[in-house]
Amino acid sequence: MPTGPRWWQKATFYQIYVRSWRDGNGDGTGDLPGVIEGLDYLSWLGVDAIWLSPTMPSPDADWGYDVSDYKGVHPELGTMADLDRLVQEAGRRHIAVLLDLVPNHTSSAHPWFVDALSGPSAEHRGYYVWARPKPDGSPPNNWTDATGAPAWTLDPASGEYYLHNYLPAQPDLNWWDERVHMEFEDIIRFWFGRGVAGFRIDVAHGLYKDRSLRDNPQPRDGDHPASLTGGRRTVYNSRRPEVHKVYKRWRQVADSYDPPRVLLGETWEFDPKKLGDYLGRQEPELHLAFNFPFVLSPLEARPLASVVERTLSALPRGAAPVWTASNHDVGRFASRWCHDDPRAVRAALVLLMALPGAVVLYYGDELGLGDVDVPLGRQRDLMTRGRPGQACRDRCRTPMPWAPGDNYGFCPPGVQPWLPFGDHQTTNVRHQRDDPGSALNLCRHLVALRKSGQIGGLGPMERLWLDDQVWSFRLDGTVTVLNLSPAPVARELPLAGPAQVLCHTSASAVGGHLGPALELGPWEATVLAC
Ligand code: NOJ
Repeated sequence: MPTGPRWWQKATFYQIYVRSWRDGNGDGTGDLPGVIEGLDYLSWLGVDAIWLSPTMPSPDADWGYDVSDYKGVHPELGTMADLDRLVQEAGRRHIAVLLDLVPNHTSSAHPWFVDALSGPSAEHRGYYVWARPKPDGSPPNNWTDATGAPAWTLDPASGEYYLHNYLPAQPDLNWWDERVHMEFEDIIRFWFGRGVAGFRIDVAHGLYKDRSLRDNPQPRDGDHPASLTGGRRTVYNSRRPEVHKVYKRWRQVADSYDPPRVLLGETWEFDPKKLGDYLGRQEPELHLAFNFPFVLSPLEARPLASVVERTLSALPRGAAPVWTASNHDVGRFASRWCHDDPRAVRAALVLLMALPGAVVLYYGDELGLGDVDVPLGRQRDLMTRGRPGQACRDRCRTPMPWAPGDNYGFCPPGVQPWLPFGDHQTTNVRHQRDDPGSALNLCRHLVALRKSGQIGGLGPMERLWLDDQVWSFRLDGTVTVLNLSPAPVARELPLAGPAQVLCHTSASAVGGHLGPALELGPWEATVLAC
């Protein structure tokens, strides 16, 4: 077995929300032929891998996160032949393809659930979580689903409730049933056999539920608000210790392929030690685990340094962290972190890409694309649409702007895209490609520095400076200095002498020398070779 870092540990991944990335057949919805068309762009950008948001057949109650056939391709997105061609064409460009796997729940239209509904003695009844009502007929316990409603829906025919941690159209699977393990091991082998490089695992922390269905308790001081559902600690309807068994088994399957396949978990875990546990302490588990404390941190020096340092110190030996700032659920960093200030966007890109380990960019991050205000009448996400106090997730799922003009090159002029655009006159690929000082060209430069091993390495990270505005760290022969504030700063860093600028939020500074006394304008950031 090789002992150095493996490719995924330092990789730049790129998440494609397929419906929104590129429309190959001109119907206003992105699709797999569109992704194939866009591969040359990704190759130019330099990313190592793509993660495709759900591609499997689905009634789309949750846009693919309600799977009705785990071994198929959603007809609106393309065919199996398209997916095979995508894997092949991406491979020719040295881009690995990860699919989204949804093992926590199926669609209520999945044949397993349809059979389960036929009665308590149905073959697949045990694939799902059923429970009798309380004596007064109310749901079995206090668990709530992602919308805040009871997580149980009554099946009137049998008088039993079934569990859904998301929508009623997404019944939770029962991982206490060994047959569910066998099904998913078969599913992952099916896709690995087709050359898929791995999976992003949806709700990776959620698979097992407390066997005796205990009530979720009240919150405690210090609980991260995002770790609660319906105001309760979600310790019994998810985050059960048994889930680790699943990933130990899957890791063995993934490692049995040549090249080994990669498992990237959507792990909503806020304790750094528990997050690290998903990577395996005694035995290997997931290869990578998303870091939501980082995603949800403010773009401020002290909180970010704290979450990064605590994450690194809690990782198992030899494991790598993964950093991301946007996705199709939490929104886009350009809006969430940067309030659409292009200076802050550049600083955030430097920060993200200079950290040790893997990075996942969300499509449009490279342009500094912000969230789009989608009017209620055009909102498509049932989970968040029109819910008071909650931003609709459609704001960060709008189509990729490729070029100026009608429909921004996403789909043909005159066709209505499945979600509307914002104003992207400058945040589009063609415009930014031609501008050496654009976010896109900065991002591409950062990807190249990561690829050549100059930044993003896994060597020990040493803090050089931290105050309310500035964070600086040394890593593998580089020093990153970030002014995460809207004010200019001047700092004297402990450097041996002037250092060559590898990267700077102002493109014209690259190649020059800076330090040890450093002046940075508002939201300026640099990486120096030291
Ligand atoms: C996490 C996915 O990212 C989200 O979009 C989805 O609604 C839930 N899991 C349920 O599958």
